[in-house]
Amino acid sequence: MTKTVFVTGGNRGIGLEVVRGLAKEGHKVLLGCRDEDSGKEVVQDIVGGDVHVVEIALNNEQAIIDPFVRAEAVYGPVDILINNAGVMEDSDLNDLSLDAFDAAFQVNVKAPLILIKQVLPGMRKRGFGRIVNVSSGWGSFYEGMEGPLAYAVSKAALNALTLNVARTLDEEEDVAVNSVCPGWVHTRMGGKDAPRSPEKGAESIVWAATQDKGGPNGKFIRDKEVINW
Ligand SMILES: NC(=O)c1ccc[n+]([C@@H]2O[C@H](COP(=O)([O-])OP(=O)(O)OC[C@H]3O[C@@H](n4cnc5c(N)ncnc54)[C@H](OP(=O)(O)O)[C@@H]3O)[C@@H](O)[C@H]2O)c1
Repeated sequence: MTKTVFVTGGNRGIGLEVVRGLAKEGHKVLLGCRDEDSGKEVVQDIVGGDVHVVEIALNNEQAIIDPFVRAEAVYGPVDILINNAGVMEDSDLNDLSLDAFDAAFQVNVKAPLILIKQVLPGMRKRGFGRIVNVSSGWGSFYEGMEGPLAYAVSKAALNALTLNVARTLDEEEDVAVNSVCPGWVHTRMGGKDAPRSPEKGAESIVWAATQDKGGPNGKFIRDKEVINW
């Protein structure tokens, strides 16, 4: 059945391939991006999909909520939310500024939280919802929290957000919240040495977003398998 999907950071990299993947499966996809022109440019190449560009900067609560509410008024309530947009600054404890730390938390954690608060009550009321938080193994305690400081700590917080919100859902509800690590992907963020294509990076995100009732909830997923946090 056709669902309405919202993808943040849908104008490039992994997010764009998630948009393509879910549009290909027949869903109506709202491609969120902070620069409308960059969204319109890429959407031209998506042949046959029901894709609409929504300008949304994830910089503060109002900048997120206003365009999101307008988009739902036009395209209908969002059934599947993909919190994909992310930022990474390559700084360690010595050179990291607190502004950069705040910026990482704003985009990687607070924006997903704001959007989850916005969509989850409606999803529960309508009896269907999927939320995928695009995270990273660099935010995994189990894998040693290897990434740059603000990135690793913010992705760990995103994983904690996933687990905490998932715990509030009943097993009988057809609503699920999961984190997905896309692997090391050849994008602007991942760089040219990354072994994975954006299509491959998007696969598990699309998979988690389209699992049936009784599928994973409150899990950390890579390559379509549950992994340790
Ligand atoms: N690439 C990897 O190897 C890798 C590995 C693990 C996890 N991830 C995660 O996968 C996700 C996608 O990463 P990617 O590799 O596709 O990165 P990317 O190519 O750098 O794309 C990042 C996206 O986030 C958007 N974004 C950043 N700040 C924003 C803001 N303030 N408001 C709105 N949008 C904003 C960017 O918009 P603009 O185009 O306007 O800048 C872009 O669309 C991220 O959450 C990342 O942490 C990536």
